[in-house]
Amino acid sequence: MRFVDLICKKREGGELSDEEIREMIADYVSGTIPDYQMSSMLMAIFFNGMSDRELTTMTMAMRDSGDIVDLTSIPGVKVDKHSTGGVGDKTTLIIGPIVAACGIPVAKMSGRGLGFTGGTVDKWESIPGYQTALSEETFFKAVREHGISLVGQSGDLAPADKALYALRDVTGTVESIPLIASSIMSKKLAAGADKIVLDVTVGTGAFMQEYDRAKELAKRMVAIGNGAGKETVAMLTDMNEPLGYAIGNNLEVKEAIDMLHGEGPEDLKEICYALAGMMISLASNDDSKVSADDESVWGKHLSYEQGVELAKKRIEDGSAWEKFKEVVKNQGGDLDYIENPEKFPVAACSGELKASGDGYISWINTMDFGLAAGMLGAGRAKKDDVIDMSAGIIMKKKIGDRVSKGDVIATLHAASDDMIGSAISHLENGAYRLSDEKPDLPKLIYEVIR
Ligand code: URA
Repeated sequence: MRFVDLICKKREGGELSDEEIREMIADYVSGTIPDYQMSSMLMAIFFNGMSDRELTTMTMAMRDSGDIVDLTSIPGVKVDKHSTGGVGDKTTLIIGPIVAACGIPVAKMSGRGLGFTGGTVDKWESIPGYQTALSEETFFKAVREHGISLVGQSGDLAPADKALYALRDVTGTVESIPLIASSIMSKKLAAGADKIVLDVTVGTGAFMQEYDRAKELAKRMVAIGNGAGKETVAMLTDMNEPLGYAIGNNLEVKEAIDMLHGEGPEDLKEICYALAGMMISLASNDDSKVSADDESVWGKHLSYEQGVELAKKRIEDGSAWEKFKEVVKNQGGDLDYIENPEKFPVAACSGELKASGDGYISWINTMDFGLAAGMLGAGRAKKDDVIDMSAGIIMKKKIGDRVSKGDVIATLHAASDDMIGSAISHLENGAYRLSDEKPDLPKLIYEVIR
């Protein structure tokens, strides 16, 4: 069949067969289908959607377009976690060590930040010496010997997604739920875990600002994961204000260290315990990879609530902190900074965002805070921009806090006063609202989709 006939079929609301979908992805990656035809197909999908079968087939074809990490040589159930993005999200730095401290192998690849969202790899790299680019052999060895390795994405995972995303970006087809779901899940499935926990954020600092769309995205990704034979659970979590107080790379590492010591912001704790608890529960309910002499959570069939309790225990007994130090040391990071966080470089200049009036903070445009952190040097507007690891924002007030005119809402850190001035102007232009009435605090975990 000519590709134009498939475009027409989709345009008219028809379903593509598995064979047609596989051929479409293979032919696009090989260059047989030109961009102008693929753009037209993407727009037809944008308007007419895809069935769960079509979507799973397309995602698996995208997964199969490149390398697939084979984690089968590492004993135990590997559970991956993925967040759809947010501001101040340092959860991987905390959850990885918690889960590994429960004896569950953590072999996690993360990405770099772009636009308003930060990236976990950049946060790791703000620890002097920490290596995120390990060979596959070293990565596997680290997981076998230490139970954990946290690295950047390597190899050629899902090149079909790379090509399709670049085309979507310039053809107005990014904001399609099936296309986002296949994009994220093709990479997750290629990363080789047995089970996947998705943190689908919703709110002013999330990719999905509307609850119904976030829920739909969560459902579609869960269907893809399960359809591909990997148990997948999504948690819909709030991103209507930054997570924790710190935004920016070494600032976030310092906050993660606080939490690993059992301190730190309550919202960060709640989200980390929930996600780690879900990962622990999923791993402990899978008997297929358990050997008789395993002493960890294997075969214990822990509920989500029991998983959460175990996650808390691993913070309280200090074992998650010990795992964190172990992974940092093993990946070349300088433990002196981790043990004495005051040694992290501090930005040369600082400034303050001050309240414009009296009242309660009732609403925050979280994306604006993410963008402002980028303006301070903490993020990238373009892929090859260089990051200032000490730049960023520390929130002093969050939703529900009372302020008087002139109170500090956030402190800003950057290499120059000009950068701080621009970021403050950006934030003063509607990044928060005040109300006379105390607002309801945002709920942190809305729903679990299985
Ligand atoms: N993140 C992805 O990886 N892909 C999308 O399409 C959107 C967000």
